[in-house]
Order: sequence, then C-alpha cells, then structure tokens
Amino acid sequence: MNVLDVLEPSQIPNRYKEMSDQELEIRAKQIKKKLGPNLYIPGHHYQKDEVLQFADDTGDSLQLAQMAEKNQKAKYIVFCGVHFMAETADILTNEDQTVVLPDMRAGCSMADMADIHQTIHAWEELQNTFDDTIMPLTYVNSTASIKSFVGKHGGATVTSSNAKRMIKWALSQKKRILFLPDQHLGRNVSYELGVPLEQMAVWDPLKKELIYEGDKQNILVILWKGHCSVHEKFTVEHIHALRSQFSDMNVIVHPECTFDVVQAADTSGSTKEIIDAINHAPKDSRWAIGTEMNLVNRLIKSNPDKHIVSLNPNMCPCLTMNRIDLPHFVWALDMIEMGKPVNEIKVEDETAHFARLALQRMLERV
Ligand code: 13P
Ligand code: SF4
Repeated sequence: MNVLDVLEPSQIPNRYKEMSDQELEIRAKQIKKKLGPNLYIPGHHYQKDEVLQFADDTGDSLQLAQMAEKNQKAKYIVFCGVHFMAETADILTNEDQTVVLPDMRAGCSMADMADIHQTIHAWEELQNTFDDTIMPLTYVNSTASIKSFVGKHGGATVTSSNAKRMIKWALSQKKRILFLPDQHLGRNVSYELGVPLEQMAVWDPLKKELIYEGDKQNILVILWKGHCSVHEKFTVEHIHALRSQFSDMNVIVHPECTFDVVQAADTSGSTKEIIDAINHAPKDSRWAIGTEMNLVNRLIKSNPDKHIVSLNPNMCPCLTMNRIDLPHFVWALDMIEMGKPVNEIKVEDETAHFARLALQRMLERV
C-alpha cells in the first residue's frame, strides 16, 4: 500500500485512481443525467479542464457567490473550487441544500494566513490605538470565521472584481480600514483609489505588530500581511524580459500580484476582467498574463488568433485548486448517488449568520 493512501485525509477508495479518464467521464455524465436539477456544479476558472467540463456554471469568486445565492433548488452542490468558496456557498444556500467539496485538501494558502485568534488579537490592539475608526473588510479568500468576525463588526467581504467599490464604501463609513488577508489586493486597489503608500500600514500577525514609520494617526489603510503564493511568483524582471523581446507585448496581471508588478504591467484586473480583455483583444495582439496557469492555458487554447504566454515562463497551476481532479469528483458524485455524501461543508450556525451579513453587504452593492 502506498504511504499516501494511508495519510490521505479524504479517504478516496483506490479504485477511482485506477479507472481511466474515459470511464470516469462516462460515470460523471451518467450521474449528472440521473440527478438532473437536484445536482448543481459550480466551477472556478482556476479549476482543471477535466472537472470544469462538467460545471453547470463557471465564474470567478464574485460570480460563484452570486450563483450560490441564486440557486436555492439543487439538493446537492458539488463545488469545484477551494474550501473557502464551498463555505461561502453553504452560507448563502438554504438548510436543505448540501455542499460537497470533492477533496478536503483543496484549501487556500492565502486564506490560511489569517486565523481567527490572530484576528481577534489584532483587532483589540488596533482598537487601542485607533478607537472606533476602523471598518474591517475581508477578501472572500478567507475562512468563514474571519468573514463572520468582519460581519459582526459592521464590515463586508470583497472580491477582486468589486474591491474598488467596497474599499471606497468602507472609507466613506469609517476613517480607516483593516483589509484581510491579502496585502497586495488591498494595497493595489487602495492606491488606485488615491490612498498614498505613506498612509498604508501593514499588520504582521506573526510578530503581532503594526509596521509603520511616522505618525500612526495618518494611517488610512491597514493591510494584513498575507499573500497568494501563486500570484507572488510574477516579478518585474519577468515583465522587463518579455518587453525587451517584444515591443508590442501587453502585460495584464491579477491584483493579487505585488504592487511593483501591478505598477509595471499595462493593466491589472480580476479573473473576469482578464478573461474579457483577452477574449475581446484584436487578432494577432500579443499578451503576457500574470495569473493562475489552468486559466492561462485555457485562454491560450480558446484564443488561437492571439499570441498569449504566461508572464512567468516557469509557472505552474495553483496546487490546491488542482486537488479537485476527476477521480475525487466522480467519487463525490457516486457517494451522493448512493445517498451517503462525503466531504460535506457545513458552517456552524452562528458563524454562518454573521458571515452572511458580511457577504450580503457586498452582494447588495454589486
Ligand atoms: P477571483 O476569482 O476573485 O479573481 O480570485 C482569484 C483567486 O485567487 C481565487 O482563489
Ligand atoms: Fe488561494 Fe492563490 Fe490558489 Fe487562489 S490562486 S486558491 S488565492 S493560493
């Protein structure tokens, strides 16, 4: 027996790994047909093609949250994405609906960079320094507990598609914001809104300290020290290297990339904005894209009339997104068909209540 089979927490039986892709695909189609509208499969754009082909709807984080809110009918929602997205779907759907994540190891390293204990501690420290002048905002790429904390304290969630609108709103409500857990998205969007870097501080959850030089009362944006390990792999050197090769290269990056990369790029935009920009780009135009590799490869395939490369030539896909593969997907469907769903995502009631508030404050503003 392989040691990984013993360690694997999701307990998928070996036979699924032994089935061919063709057998797995046939099984997925059969179950989808049999369950009909009782089954709903949303899929994030960063998912592998092998599972995304079965999605009823595909989207970025914002679209997936909107779809989950809309679909109150399907008994089972098999989420092709990562854990925080499945939690959001559970929070926004009703009690009779079951959300399943085919592989529980599909987490998000960024979401893991802010835990609730660190957040409570940071909030207490920041209240001591700034009194009641802070609005908390959390990127949807965060645990349900963080969303709940933010909802309880009058704040809201944001996605990369609406971060600008939400930060603007938050700064109209309170003098300053605490933005969790992605420092880069918070910094890039706040800067775009006109907040100078000199008025942004960083909260370091490990050192438990506010990093800032100068009079703290000037701070408008407090950025949690978290990042996406995928988007941090794009550098300004990558941009210079491609531009020196091709003078007509357009560089488009996701705002989870670092400030320097976003500043050096021609454009930055959420997953949906990147897809729209590429799909509407003129024939023969040249693009370097700074985002997740499954999506970049799909854009390359679906736009053969354009010259598209990854901004980082050695980029690989998001490892946790890739946990959702065909064997896990078909196993999850089989177990639903047998009436014994596995890997159910259930957010505890009180946490869900306040997290829903944070999500609704966002959804009613988009
Ligand atoms: P969006 O779907 O909001 O662009 O987020 C990107 C991402 O990193 C999802 O995990
Ligand atoms: Fe998390 Fe980044 Fe992967 Fe998105 S791409 S799931 S933010 S690690």
